[in-house]
This record gives sequence, C-alpha cells and structure tokens, in this order.
Amino acid sequence: MKSLINTQGGIDAPNLLKKCHIITFGCQMNEYDSWRMAQMLSREYVLTPFPEDADLILINTCSIREKAEHKLYSLLGRLKGLKDKNPSLRIGVTGCVAQQLGSQLFKKAAHVDMVLGPQAIYSLPRVLESLEQGKTRLALTRLTDNFHIPATAGPALERNDVRAFVTIMQGCDNFCTYCIVPHVRGRETSRPPIDIIREIESLVNQGIKDITLLGQNVNSYGKGLGEDIDFPRLLTEIDRRFPGLRLRFTTSHPKDLSDPLIECFPGLKTLCEHLHLPVQSGSNRILKRMNRKYSIEKYLERVEKLRAACPSITLTTDIIVGFPGEAEEDFQATVELLETVRFDQIFAFRYSERPATAAAGFGHKVPEEIRRERLCQVIDLQKTIGLKQYQRYENTVMECLIEKGHNMKLQGRTRGNHVVNLSGSDQLIGEILDVFIEKACHHSLKGRIVN
Ligand code: 5AD
Ligand code: SF4
Repeated sequence: MKSLINTQGGIDAPNLLKKCHIITFGCQMNEYDSWRMAQMLSREYVLTPFPEDADLILINTCSIREKAEHKLYSLLGRLKGLKDKNPSLRIGVTGCVAQQLGSQLFKKAAHVDMVLGPQAIYSLPRVLESLEQGKTRLALTRLTDNFHIPATAGPALERNDVRAFVTIMQGCDNFCTYCIVPHVRGRETSRPPIDIIREIESLVNQGIKDITLLGQNVNSYGKGLGEDIDFPRLLTEIDRRFPGLRLRFTTSHPKDLSDPLIECFPGLKTLCEHLHLPVQSGSNRILKRMNRKYSIEKYLERVEKLRAACPSITLTTDIIVGFPGEAEEDFQATVELLETVRFDQIFAFRYSERPATAAAGFGHKVPEEIRRERLCQVIDLQKTIGLKQYQRYENTVMECLIEKGHNMKLQGRTRGNHVVNLSGSDQLIGEILDVFIEKACHHSLKGRIVN
C-alpha cells in the first residue's frame, strides 16, 4: 500500500484548497491511475500524506488476489472513525475492487460515498460535484467496449520523482483462466501515440528521467487504433524524440513477444535492458489450463532469441503455484524452468481463486498447505539463483540513475532494473553515474561512485 505523498497539485493558493489523501494498492497501473486522479483534482485539492487532515480520501484498490481485497476492508474499518468525527469527509473507493463489488460496497461499508471502477475514475470531478449537490452513495461501474483513456488535461503536477509511469493501453482480451483483470478492467484499448508523446514530453520537462510504459499486454499495443502503429514502432518514435530518457515497459505476454520487439533492445539506445516476461508455470499441461497460448518450448525459444540479441538483458518473471490441477510433476517442471532460465528476480504467488474467472469452476483444487509449501520452495530456490545472478555484477561498473536518498545514503537503479545502494550527497538525485559494484545482496547491489 502506498500513500501518494510526493506529488502536489496547484499550489497557487494552497491554504484555500481542500486536502485529498490517496491510498494506492496493487500494480503500477493503479499508481498511474492515482496520479491521474490527483491531477484531475489539482485545481481544488492539494495532496496530504495525513488521512486525518483530509477532506477527501480515495482508496484505489486491487483485486488480483483475495488478500488485496481483505486489505481494503480493514482499511475502511479504520477510516470509519474519521468519518464519525468529521461527517463532511468524503470517502471514495476506486479501481478493481470498486468495479467488482459496485454498490454492494455500500452494504459492507456505509461510510463510503462513491465507488468508481477503473474506467470511471475520469468522472471523478463530476461525481464530487454531484455529492456537493446533495447526491449520496454514487456507484459508477459500467464497463464499455469503446472506452478511451482521456488525454491528460489541466495543470501539470509538480513531481519530486525521477521516474514515472505512463499507461499506453488499458484492459485485456486474453482471459487467462485465473485472472480477474479482463473482468474488472474491460477490453483492451490503446491510447493514441500523440497523447502518449505529449504526456512523456510534459514529464521530461519536469525532470523525469526514467519512464515505464504500462499496459496489461503492451505487445498488442495499437490494436483498434486505426493508425499505422504497433508497439515496436511506438518505442522507436519515443526513442527518437527523447534521446536522453531511460525507457522501460511492462507487462509483456510471451505469446506476443515478436522479433521486431526483440530487435528494439539492441536497436534503441533509450530502451533499458530489462524484460519482465511472466511465465506463470513450467508445465505445458498447466499453461494450457491457464489459457496462456504458448508452450514452455516456445517460451525458452523466445528467451534464447532475446539473450542472443541482447546478452546483457535482465529477465524477471511471475509464477503462480498451486493452480487447480497442478500435480507434483507440474510443479517440478516449474522448478526446472527456474533452474534453466535463471531469472534475476521472480514474483511468485499462491493461486487465489477469483470470482467470475474460468478457473474458479475448475476441479482438482490444490490444498492450501501444498500451495504454501510450493511457494516457499520456489522462493528458497530463487534466493539462491537470484544471488548467483546478482553476483555476476560484482567488481563491474554499472550505469546507475540516482533515484532517492538522504543522510548521504543514496538509492540508484541500473538499466537492468537492479536497485543499488551507495553513499553520496542527495544533490546527486537525478544524475546518471558510473557505479562500481562491490557486493551483491539478495534483492539489491552495493556500490560506490566511480570518481
Ligand atoms: N492468483 C494468484 N496470482 C495471480 N496473478 C494473477 N491472477 C492471480 C490469481 N488469481 C498473478 C500473475 C500475474 C501477476 C500480476 O499476478 O502471476 O502475472
Ligand atoms: Fe490477466 Fe492474462 Fe490479461 Fe495478464 S494477460 S492481465 S494475466 S488475463
């Protein structure tokens, strides 16, 4: 859970403005959506890191796993006291759980004033106005197939960060059988390249140095736009216009990882050498039940091609253990895959049954204790593999963007997306420096600035 405290909007007359506290659960796309909400509100609200000072509290939710949903309820419980003390406080629930539950949320938490699904967040100013006019308990959760992400409008938000996210497409048409995303974020919709370029330009003008393009499956970017554009061409255009940038993207579906996209890694100077390529399972039988539409052989062929095209590329992945029907031999195939590919980092999850998904109706559920055991096993295995991978960088010099720090302790990021801890003045934040890597740790590197 993150509070948006490092963006502040419209500070012409901060004392006259109301205060908004935004809490963000879940993925980077939600962080982007929270930023868009802050921007939409910036003529009337400043952001506050303190919920008790707020006139408006927004909780931007995630429903990818059941645990994320539970976090929302405990948070809403804690916020009830604030509403009791200050009845004019407005509380809004936005994002994926809002979409999933709609007006049912008012039954679970009567102190919530509005519920807005991911497509409805752009109506936030209008909904707040309706609440001002006396309307109560507003839920906007209609998903439409012809939704378009509006271009950013209004004053640019002042940002203290050096990295930012830019959503280039929203929604998903893949329907992996475990996944709730297509049900709560709707069908795939790509933003026109001109909106993306303008947004990047505005961020670069504010000093942003590292931009991650976001989408549930960025590789199918451009579908339905009616323009002569696809994802490799979008990357090429951004690279041409913003030569000083560090560019990244997530997430890629292995079935759509094309040769032209692989060629972008060695071909585009701005594109950082890191690819997050979720594999989910090492067993073809399970991949089929997950509706992933690739085989392990195909996945390994793509990895080989990527590594041949760009030998320094960092690979990371997502794994689900305990999917319905996952037998011991399927799980061992996942273990074997991790040993074969040797990712720098993995994000491993226990399967969590989600409403409306196909897998919720599958038989042969894996008992919870076995899911837990398998998760521990993959995490332990990856600890060893990840450390060995990170040790390859010891005694080398890596280019680091210094992202944050204070008290002479800095944190930077390599082009391959490794976090590096080092000492130095916080005046160096925003600089790209050569760093000598002294030591590898499990999820980070320790280094010192060269000269
Ligand atoms: N249970 C567990 N993990 C899931 N993910 C998506 N849906 C589920 C689920 N029902 C994981 C996938 C995906 C990542 C974002 O979350 O690994 O890549
Ligand atoms: Fe979910 Fe699959 Fe779409 Fe990713 S590609 S968002 S896992 S349905």
